[in-house]
Amino acid sequence: MLKQRFSIRQVVEMTGLEESEIRFYEKAFGEFLQFTRMAGPDRDFTPDQIDILKRIKELTHKRGFGIEEVRRELKNISRSVPSLRGPGFPPAKTPDLARVIAVTSGKGGVGKTTVTVNLAVALAQRGKRVAIFDADLGLANVHILMGVRPRFNLMHVIQDGFSLSDALVEGPLGIKLISGGQGVRELANLTDEQRRNVLRQMDKLEREVDILLVDTGAGISENVLRFATFADEVIVVTTSNVAATVDAYSIIKILREMDPQGKIGLLCNMAKSMYHAKNVFNRLDTAARKYLDYALGDLGYIVEDEYVLTANQARKPLLLSFPHAPSARCILQVADTVLNAKVFKNAEKQSSFQDIMGALKRTLVGAAAL
Ligand SMILES: Nc1ncnc2c1ncn2[C@@H]1O[C@H](COP(=O)(O)OP(=O)(O)OP(=O)(O)O)[C@@H](O)[C@H]1O
Ligand SMILES: [Mg+2]
Repeated sequence: MLKQRFSIRQVVEMTGLEESEIRFYEKAFGEFLQFTRMAGPDRDFTPDQIDILKRIKELTHKRGFGIEEVRRELKNISRSVPSLRGPGFPPAKTPDLARVIAVTSGKGGVGKTTVTVNLAVALAQRGKRVAIFDADLGLANVHILMGVRPRFNLMHVIQDGFSLSDALVEGPLGIKLISGGQGVRELANLTDEQRRNVLRQMDKLEREVDILLVDTGAGISENVLRFATFADEVIVVTTSNVAATVDAYSIIKILREMDPQGKIGLLCNMAKSMYHAKNVFNRLDTAARKYLDYALGDLGYIVEDEYVLTANQARKPLLLSFPHAPSARCILQVADTVLNAKVFKNAEKQSSFQDIMGALKRTLVGAAAL
């Protein structure tokens, strides 16, 4: 007999979850939800799956369970309900959702924000619709390098009921910027209604851009790692400085441990020459292959030149102020590599804008629980 099936809209109504949350749970708990490979925007849900989603909601919303705790609980349940057992397939990422790329580093000041802003320009010049999420909570400065002034940030959306579009500023070439703002910590204390309001708006934005770049802070902090592991791909920026490469290795190691499915590319900034950059890549790649059993993506390098400083100081992206500078030409090359599916694109992982929001939420909830 055919079992009754429900559309995602119906599931939203029945569970009180946002579509984005459902997608997040599908990914996080795919093994319990037994999805088919046909997953996509039009997929449907069985009553069993809806029950599990309700259960997950109860555990996370009411009891404040973390992912691992929920997983343990679901394992217990699935033992007693045989129909819930089975390998299941995580849902395939639907093509209309943005590709999420985090830019991070071990050591600070190696050029993450410069890379994020100019990569965004390069990708926009290639016809991509790009958004940047400035997740460097506390030191958010993407807007400065882009030469825009966000009047509002995520905090205003959350606390004061502004819409996400109010907190979105458009920079050059239509690049959208969401500034996290320091008040993002407040997300920990959102009411259900406020949280849903933000997520609903994120859903919309995710369909409006092709690529979302996330500029994270530096170093091995919970915050940075959460954002990085929820992205499809991570760009680890380093310089040829020994301390920076050692820290880059540490972050790569941790990213591998936290997210074996993620794809990591290395970008050597402020390089003296291609030779120096290759050397840095080879050293790190050799170590990663040997100790982490992982081959890094080679995203190339950006030479050190004073045009970068001048452009940053003038608050106009390098690619627009000095498009022919040696450093600008390097960034164009990096953009091509990022778009080259063979080198960098992660075909396996299914993440989304909502995962980033999920990461943000859990970071904050985690921080609040400490
Ligand atoms: N290729 C380059 N050549 C010369 N200067 C550069 C280059 N890339 C970045 N810089 C300069 O290095 C400094 C740090 O850059 P940026 O702010 O982008 O780093 P960051 O990694 O985002 O720093 P933080 O960790 O503080 O967020 C800036 O003054 C920037 O102008
Ligand atoms: Mg920065």
